[in-house]
Amino acid sequence: MRYSIWALAVAAGLSACAEPAANDPYVWQTLNGAPTQVIAHRGANGELPEHTIEAYTLAIEQGAEIIEPDLVLTSDGIFVVRHDRWLSDSTDIADHPEFADRRRVVGDRDDWWVDDFTFEEIRTLRARQVREGRPTEFDGLYMIPTFEEVLDLAAAHDVATEPEVKSPAAFIATGLDPLPELVRILRLRGLDTADAPIAIQCFEPDFLARLNEEIDAPLLMLVFQMQELEPGLDPLIPTVALDDMVAFADGVGPYKALLVDTNGEDTGFIARAHALGLSVHPWTFRDDQPVADGADIETELRRIYALGADAVFTDFPATAVRVRDAMIAEGASGH
Ligand code: G3P
Ligand code: CA
Repeated sequence: MRYSIWALAVAAGLSACAEPAANDPYVWQTLNGAPTQVIAHRGANGELPEHTIEAYTLAIEQGAEIIEPDLVLTSDGIFVVRHDRWLSDSTDIADHPEFADRRRVVGDRDDWWVDDFTFEEIRTLRARQVREGRPTEFDGLYMIPTFEEVLDLAAAHDVATEPEVKSPAAFIATGLDPLPELVRILRLRGLDTADAPIAIQCFEPDFLARLNEEIDAPLLMLVFQMQELEPGLDPLIPTVALDDMVAFADGVGPYKALLVDTNGEDTGFIARAHALGLSVHPWTFRDDQPVADGADIETELRRIYALGADAVFTDFPATAVRVRDAMIAEGASGH
């Protein structure tokens, strides 16, 4: 396993946390024994439009140790930060009459597609809140950042990043292979090494396996379902067993329901991954989305921290940091 950001972050990211009681330390069940880290999922997008410099900056101010940009490519090969290839949900593109004739059907979706636009054109759009019930007063204010702008922000604030390469096979099918541009950027910035403050995530094992041949930076295999846990898998969603991903990945990013069942019980996933040396980064913890067993967000976070999740993706980093730091301050006496 690579010497990763997950080991380094003990010193780098958690220095502002409350100190554990000296004679009564809480024993974290994480791979490296350090407190769970907080990953700002698309920035602090519970409060501000996702994937914007403003949402990432707020997350850093709230204490997130890691920020997460999702990466897609423009027609001229620039990585911009969006969750989807389509643009209608997260931008104001529908309000741009100059792009009206660019709308087209791909698969079963009629929309505007990021790889049909140059970077200069994408830059004229503004971000919008995506999820129902969240603040919309910041819609229309913030630009779509590039991957490199997010890396600049992370470097300036000494936080790590966990970029996710979105749908590489779909981009490759359009003639835009994300891999060479990703490797170029990482090498240029010295982020291709095993101890770089970065981990690259992807849902497609083939892409991570190719990337593993090119760089030494930590890689995180995202999984929505696991052969070991569920017999009735969706054949359209790629999956890979924990035993197999160790050949090319250093960590696993599971959907959180793979870790805790609908009764709130441990499935044993984290212990199995840790036994293989895989760091575990589940997604996505949301203050405004109840879980199956009715636990509130603080209960849900305390449960996943106690099981030893190495880092958590959350839309509300302030809450995840507060609950984590409370556990540090409580020490063993609080448990
Ligand atoms: O990358 C972790 C998590 O973000 C995966 O889900 O759909 O929010 O990118 P998604
Ligand atoms: Ca993601």
